[in-house]
Amino acid sequence: MGKNVIVLGTQWGDEGKGKIVDLLTDRAQAVVRFQGGHNAGHTLVIGEEKTVLHLVPSGILRNNVRCFIGNGVVVSPSALLHEIDHLRRLGVELESRIRVSGLCPVVLPYHVAIDQAREKALGRQAIGTTGRGIGPAYEDKVARRGLRIADLLEPEICRSMVETAADYHNFVLQQYFKASPVDISQIVEECLGYGEALAPLVADVAAELYQLIEQGDSVVFEGAQGALLDVDHGTYPFVTSSNTTAGAASVGSGIGPLQFDAVMGIAKAYTTRVGSGPFPTELFDQAGEALAREGHEFGATTGRPRRCGWFDAVNVKHACRLSGVTALCITKLDVLDQFTEVKICTAYQRAGKRMDTPASQSNELMQCVPVYERVPGWRTRTAGIRTWQGLPGEARRYLERLSELIEVSVDIVSTGADRDDTLVVRHPFD
Ligand code: GDP
Ligand code: IMO
Ligand code: MG
Repeated sequence: MGKNVIVLGTQWGDEGKGKIVDLLTDRAQAVVRFQGGHNAGHTLVIGEEKTVLHLVPSGILRNNVRCFIGNGVVVSPSALLHEIDHLRRLGVELESRIRVSGLCPVVLPYHVAIDQAREKALGRQAIGTTGRGIGPAYEDKVARRGLRIADLLEPEICRSMVETAADYHNFVLQQYFKASPVDISQIVEECLGYGEALAPLVADVAAELYQLIEQGDSVVFEGAQGALLDVDHGTYPFVTSSNTTAGAASVGSGIGPLQFDAVMGIAKAYTTRVGSGPFPTELFDQAGEALAREGHEFGATTGRPRRCGWFDAVNVKHACRLSGVTALCITKLDVLDQFTEVKICTAYQRAGKRMDTPASQSNELMQCVPVYERVPGWRTRTAGIRTWQGLPGEARRYLERLSELIEVSVDIVSTGADRDDTLVVRHPFD
C-alpha cells in the first residue's frame, strides 16, 4: 500500500519545503502542487547544484518521479514554460513526467499589472506581494471570469475570453489606478502560442492521481507558502490569496480527504517573513542580523531580504492544529549553531493579559509582545549530523522543547541546504 503525505509550511513560507519534498520523494512515485503559483520559490541543493523551482513540483530532479500541477494552482504559462525550458537546458528530462491540470486558472499580464498597480496605490499600507499577479488571478477564478489552461487550447474561446477579461482589467487599470493599459491583441497572440506549447502537458490530474493511488503508489502533496499566509487563517490582509493549510491539498488536487495518511509540517528553527504584516518575534538587533547572515535570508523568488526573529511556538502550534500536522520537520538548525543563547516565544502578553493562542486579527497580533523562554545554545557545528544521538545535548533539548510546546513530534531535522544534510528520525513513508 502506498501512502499520501502532505508537506506544508507552518510559518510565513520559505521553511525549506522544497528541500524536504525532494528528500521524501526517494520513497514516492509522484509529487503534486495544489495551491499558490510562481510566487513560491523552492530551493533544492544537491552537491554543487542549486535549483530554484517556482511552479514545477520538487520531485523533478528524481528521474522516476512524476510531477503534477493540480487544479488549485494558478499557472502563469510564460513562467511555467520558462521554468521547463531552464530545467531542460540543465539536462533534466521532464516532458514525459510533468502534467498540468486543464482546470488551473491562468495568470496573465493584466493580473501582474493589477497586482503592481494596487501595491503602488497602497503605498505604506502595501502587502509586499511578490508582484506576480497571484491575487488578481485568484480573484478572476472566484469571479468566474478567468481563463483556465484548457481554454488556451481552444483558439476561438481563448481569444474571446482574453478580450473580455482584458477589456475589464484595462478599465480598472486606467480609470481606477490611472495606470497604463495592457496590449490586448498581444496577449491574445501570446495565449494562442501558450496553448500550443502546453497542450502535450495538459491532463486530468485528479483522474491520474486517483489511478496512481489505486495501484498503490505513494504521493507527496507539496504545499507552497505557509499556514500564516493562508487567506482565511493567516494574518489577513497580509496573506497570500490561496488556502495554504492541509484542506487545500484535497480541494486543489481532486483527492478526497480520507486518502491522506500524514501531514508533515515544516518549520525553521527560528522565524522569517518576507513582505509586510505582524511578526511578534521579529528582531531588530544583532541577533536578527546574525540569523539573516547565517541563514542567507533573501527571498528565493524576489531576492528581497527576509525579516528574521526567534521561533514562535504559539503561532506554530496554532498552524499545526489548523492542518492536523502529524509530524514536524525543523529546518536550518545549523543557523543557530553559534548562538550562546536561543529564545523561544511560548506565549504573548497583550493589554496586561497573557495569551497562549495567537490573536486572530492582525491589528491585535501587532500589539502582542512575546514572552520568551531562554535556552542555552550548543556552540557546535551541526551540519551533516545524521543521528539524533549525534546532535549536541543542548540542540536535542531545544528540539525536544519545541516538540513539547507544539505537541507534535519532531521526525526530521535539517542541518544544511544539501539534500544529504538531514537527520531522519522517522520517515513518513515508513
Ligand atoms: P521553501 O520555499 O519552503 O521551499 O524554502 P526556500 O527554498 O524559499 O528557502 C529555504 C532556504 O534555506 C533555501 O535557500 C534552502 O536551500 C535553505 N535551506 C533549507 N534547509 C536548510 C538547512 O537546514 N540549513 C541551511 N543552512 N539552509 C537550508
Ligand atoms: P514559498 O512557497 C514567502 C508572501 C509575499 C507577501 C504575501 C502575498 O517559497 O514559501 P502574493 O504574491 O502571494 O500575493 O504575496 O505572501 N509570499 C511568500 N512569502 N514564501 C513564499 O512562498 C511566498 N509566497 C508569497 O511576500 O507577503
Ligand atoms: Mg520559498
